[in-house]
Amino acid sequence: MSDTFEFANRLKELPPYLFARIDQIKQEEMKKGRKLIALGIGDPDLPTPDFVIDRLTAAAKRPANHQYPSYWGMMEFRKAVAKWYDHRFGVKLNPENEVLSLIGSKEGIAHIPLAFVNPGEAALVPDPGYPVYSAATLFAGGIPLTFPLLEKNQFLPDFAHLEALVKKGPKAKLLFLNYPNNPTSASASLDFFKEVVAFAKKHQIIVCHDNAYSEIFFDGKKQPSFLEAPGAKEVGCEFHSLSKTFNMTGWRVGFLVGNKSVVQGLAQIKTNIDSGIFNACQEAGIEALERYEPFCSELRSIYQKRRDVLVPAIQASGLHCKTPDATFYVWARLREGQKSEDFVLDLIRNKGIVSTPGNGFGAAGEGYVRFTLCSDVAVLKQVAEALKASV
Ligand SMILES: Cc1ncc(COP(=O)(O)O)c(C=O)c1O
Repeated sequence: MSDTFEFANRLKELPPYLFARIDQIKQEEMKKGRKLIALGIGDPDLPTPDFVIDRLTAAAKRPANHQYPSYWGMMEFRKAVAKWYDHRFGVKLNPENEVLSLIGSKEGIAHIPLAFVNPGEAALVPDPGYPVYSAATLFAGGIPLTFPLLEKNQFLPDFAHLEALVKKGPKAKLLFLNYPNNPTSASASLDFFKEVVAFAKKHQIIVCHDNAYSEIFFDGKKQPSFLEAPGAKEVGCEFHSLSKTFNMTGWRVGFLVGNKSVVQGLAQIKTNIDSGIFNACQEAGIEALERYEPFCSELRSIYQKRRDVLVPAIQASGLHCKTPDATFYVWARLREGQKSEDFVLDLIRNKGIVSTPGNGFGAAGEGYVRFTLCSDVAVLKQVAEALKASV
């Protein structure tokens, strides 16, 4: 008898893991004693602010917080989210039924197709994009219909292409969007979101906008919420999270806001899967949202200084990249004909710098590479020096 069990088909349907070769080369280099510079993973290197940790510490000592949390999240937490959305975006939310706590936004993104996509139905998914949109659709038995984000369109979708997909393909129930964007670092305007609302109304599609990076913006270029667009709440929702805004990736505090039937659908799925976020973490989340400024302004200025070291160095090295207005990613186009994986492997071997190949985010990412700004200026200056000699 074998002790190896066959995986369900849904696991077999996942796209191949593209980073295996890179992981192997990283291991080889490290075995040689080489210290690698990690510009691959989008995980803030900076600490969670003390005021958040202090609140957690106090909250963790309260026995009432040791029991199961409420499925929807503590009312105080949901009120804090609603207050922050109003203050930050001018978007009014009812904490009773338009705000749902999530165990990080990834959890909510991964579960939402279960609420709205029947087997054989589709979700429209950006390529390149955060891989969870497709995986989650597949897990629900749905079909991810990808649409390309092209540089010539500032990495925004082409609505004519979306129309064609909707007309031709299986019934599309969800449209995933994400601006400021991972991996391209592109931003979207409110006018763009207005077009999205019109498209969604026409085709009866639920818009799932992922706004995980809204607070990491530069040069004062504040990024909008999808829900600021008139009518957005009739057609969709927005995923958000404390992960990037407050250096809290490990804490797993996120939320879904927007259309109440969408929020209700995801809540119903979650009620059957998890039991919410530890109340003490929600209390810490309230503290974070209430003390958003000046913390976030300082955070932005740190990333901006890093951006201003790395981007000119990448440009001078002969790659093409736009200076990002938001996110802590830099998305660079390689030289004509150069493959993403080859570039990334050479950069590890020759310079000890780890980046992420663009095709890891979808076929349309081939020919690009993603760097992160999650290392301090001193390290990025080292990277800049290393890039001076040809890559
Ligand atoms: C575009 C995007 N959305 C969502 C997430 C998930 O963030 P979290 O689950 O920590 O809220 C990430 C994480 O990297 C991301 O890049």
